[in-house]
Amino acid sequence: MKFNAIRLFNEDGKRVSRMVEQTLSDLDPGDVVIKSRYAAVNYKDARAVTGVGNVISRFPCVPGVEVAGTVVESADPSFRPGDVVTVQGGRDFGMRRDGGYSEYVRVPAAWVGRVPEGSDGFDMVGMGLAAYTSALAVDELLRRVRPEQGPILVTGGTGGSSSFAIDMLAGLGYRVVASTGKTSEAQYLKKIGASEIVGRDEIAGGDKPLEEQRWAGGIDAVGGAPLDALLRSTRKRGVVCAFGNAAGEELRTSIYPFILRSVSLVGINGNHPVPERGEVWARMMPGGDLHPRHIADICHTIPFAGLQAHCDKLIAGGVRGRAVVTFG
Ligand SMILES: NC(=O)c1ccc[n+]([C@@H]2O[C@H](COP(=O)([O-])OP(=O)(O)OC[C@H]3O[C@@H](n4cnc5c(N)ncnc54)[C@H](OP(=O)(O)O)[C@@H]3O)[C@@H](O)[C@H]2O)c1
Repeated sequence: MKFNAIRLFNEDGKRVSRMVEQTLSDLDPGDVVIKSRYAAVNYKDARAVTGVGNVISRFPCVPGVEVAGTVVESADPSFRPGDVVTVQGGRDFGMRRDGGYSEYVRVPAAWVGRVPEGSDGFDMVGMGLAAYTSALAVDELLRRVRPEQGPILVTGGTGGSSSFAIDMLAGLGYRVVASTGKTSEAQYLKKIGASEIVGRDEIAGGDKPLEEQRWAGGIDAVGGAPLDALLRSTRKRGVVCAFGNAAGEELRTSIYPFILRSVSLVGINGNHPVPERGEVWARMMPGGDLHPRHIADICHTIPFAGLQAHCDKLIAGGVRGRAVVTFG
């Protein structure tokens, strides 16, 4: 059987991805073979496909950290042909082991999660790592900041993860302010739950170590200067959850938000395979308090053949929401 996959090669130190024809024996070994139906495009997937940074640390490798599809064979009795399943996150899938940008995927059974009855996997991949990571951040805020304490700022507002954070926070009764570099997307941001939109450069009033106290809390998907601005303008005892680096890997700030306003900065890591996601993932399912209400507005589909062009656009900052790749 022959099928298509995107593979990233290291050619004389340059990372180059190509659509190639494969057979199962080209893929890394595993217990379960899945015919792919949907795969997501995260920021790190776009970096991998375009060869930016070092998301992939083994060559050649199939990128793509999330996929859903149907089991075609399994050496593990937990799964049978026809089961609808998803593989998402974990330390290796799509980074050090062949991932989801392939019409067939082969993985260890321990990485495979079941898709709830009645779903073809679209919503599971649509939410995926983006919504799960945001849900971990929202859960942290829920424990520490009440909606009546004031607005929550979400940075990188139109991004996949941030869109889900806005949706979930609004659903829980928080007043959400979205910061964005695409103010032309105000209508989209309001539709998914933002009450107010601010430009990327308007998070804090100025550049003093402490600025006007505006935010009861924050969810930050971008790091760098916007995270510093968020910390400087967070209210006393506010909580900021950070999980991203789209604006930069470095954080330069001062000690004053922490020692004069008791602001907390909480790091969030969502790279857990589905079988290990536990209670927060369960609460994201329909009926749960963290279930996003706007999956259809946030997610849009792209064909597998259009994935490489889409990744170029995402890295250039020109994408809204979250793309879900559909396989033929
Ligand atoms: N820690 C974890 O476990 C974890 C899990 C998932 C994601 N992440 C990280 O979270 C971040 C977002 O991921 P994603 O998949 O949601 O990406 P995404 O869909 O590409 O969203 C990123 C958003 O950040 C904003 N942005 C892009 N470049 C920027 C820049 N130079 N300066 C300021 N803002 C910029 C843009 O929103 P606006 O135009 O609206 O400002 C963009 O839509 C990434 O850094 C990713 O690596 C981490």
